[in-house]
Amino acid sequence: MIPQKNWVRDLVVYQIYPRSFYDSNSDGVGDLPGVIQKLDYLQQLGVNALWLSPFFASPNDDNGYDISDYRAILPEFGTMEDCEELIRQCHARGMKFIMDLVVNHSSDEHEWFRKSVRREEPYTDYYYWRDGVDGHAPNNWGSVFGGSAWEYNEERGQYYLHFFSKKQPDLNWSNPLVRNEVHDLVRFWKEKGVDGLRVDAISYLDKPADFPDAEGEASPDGYVIPFLLIGREGTHAYIHEMNDKLFTPLNLMTVGEVSLATDEELYHYVSDEHAEFDMAIPFLPPIAEFGVHVPSMLRERISSRYEIVPDGWWAQFMSNHDKPRQVSAFGDDGENREVSAKALALVNHAAPGTPFVYQGEELGMTNVRYDSIDQYDDISTRNDYNQRLLAGDSPEAAFRFAAALSRDNARSPMQWNAEANAGFTTGAPWLTVNSNYTEINAEAQQDDPRSVLNFYRRLIALRRNHPALRDGKLVMIDSGHNDVIAFARETEGETLILAANLSGNACPVPEGLKGEILMQSYESGFDGVTLRPWEAVLLRK
Ligand code: GLC
Repeated sequence: MIPQKNWVRDLVVYQIYPRSFYDSNSDGVGDLPGVIQKLDYLQQLGVNALWLSPFFASPNDDNGYDISDYRAILPEFGTMEDCEELIRQCHARGMKFIMDLVVNHSSDEHEWFRKSVRREEPYTDYYYWRDGVDGHAPNNWGSVFGGSAWEYNEERGQYYLHFFSKKQPDLNWSNPLVRNEVHDLVRFWKEKGVDGLRVDAISYLDKPADFPDAEGEASPDGYVIPFLLIGREGTHAYIHEMNDKLFTPLNLMTVGEVSLATDEELYHYVSDEHAEFDMAIPFLPPIAEFGVHVPSMLRERISSRYEIVPDGWWAQFMSNHDKPRQVSAFGDDGENREVSAKALALVNHAAPGTPFVYQGEELGMTNVRYDSIDQYDDISTRNDYNQRLLAGDSPEAAFRFAAALSRDNARSPMQWNAEANAGFTTGAPWLTVNSNYTEINAEAQQDDPRSVLNFYRRLIALRRNHPALRDGKLVMIDSGHNDVIAFARETEGETLILAANLSGNACPVPEGLKGEILMQSYESGFDGVTLRPWEAVLLRK
């Protein structure tokens, strides 16, 4: 599609997980002044938009994705003045500022919820409250983070619904007062200078009035995750309403984090026709990507999404705070770490859409290797571990499973230098730093022209100078080999071709591949005949 706001096309978005980015006051937790201190670094990288994961008041059951006050800053992260200063400084550098809008649910410590428990008007129906059935939860729904999706509240004498943890009660979007609250807080942040919204877990807003049992396989703990909630008509209507009242009139860039029941649904979220979001981040649980043949997966994803929405506009990403690190999951974090990190970056930035870079990706940061489940903080990792134990796995096997998928792989502190705690903090870090920081860190890569960091800098600059990477039509090329992905981006003015060997074996160069080399994952040596392991080239025809 052609985004409703054309400026969205020029963005290269950098995602910051504030808790792990840079700690300015030695409490072991990253913070907003820490982000301000690193803006030079980000400017040198060349990105022109920052998306910060939530920095609002929160008891941190799900690390800030459980918000107890949408208009207050989490004290560990700083003050409202710090936030305003950060937004000002971003703008002064020509960077857009994107915040996370987490409104499928709030925290159970939000005053709306507290008042709802007490049936104080008008809050009584701000959440989904139901009576139990024969002393049990209203239905068989399971929460994404384990256990029933219903929690009994003694004081109110009813159950409330929580698709995520029990400290994340779902807001009742069928209540117009709730929708108005959300609209008001978007206006509040627009006035603070926010340019865009990454809209969290947005596919589940609408719920069927009769709350039927969910069908499908039960988790080992006996509950069924209600995927029937995904993408209901009512949800699309609520998003469309926000677009009408807020996103378009306020010129806010929007990227929806969507779960998809079908591929076609993507069209609904991002087409001009339906007027909902500018682009979408389709949420896929890491398990869906685990053990797949990576080149086929990427080829299929890039081409099928482009076909579904003919003009093709996407959030183009491989990493975020919910996934293992891309170089570990899709690349080779052993001897080919650097070259595979570069090859994946080339594919991501040459494909149609707005590229997203997740903090540390530009250094080729890898998954962590902690020794025990106790070192993991992530609620989802702990649930995966417990579910595997319930399913009969040995503790070792359950640990291996949970560690491989863990969101903490991406949440370990940013590796700034080879000093203690990777230069992230002079205190005790909230999460153990990856032990490879002495080798993989920003300072070591800063002046090395061959580093992954400098590769990203060149790649982001290249995108600015080659409109074909932004506007070019996507033409998939039959590479003749299963491990090689190839496509062209064509405008009237130029044709660029990407060919990437996403494997550790040598593969033949696709037939007829010729042109001037613009970028390559190796320093040199492309011979036009054989692609070396993880060799990727971007050519101009
Ligand atoms: C989204 C976030 C994830 C969070 C969940 C619940 O998927 O990306 O981190 O746990 O929503 O808010």
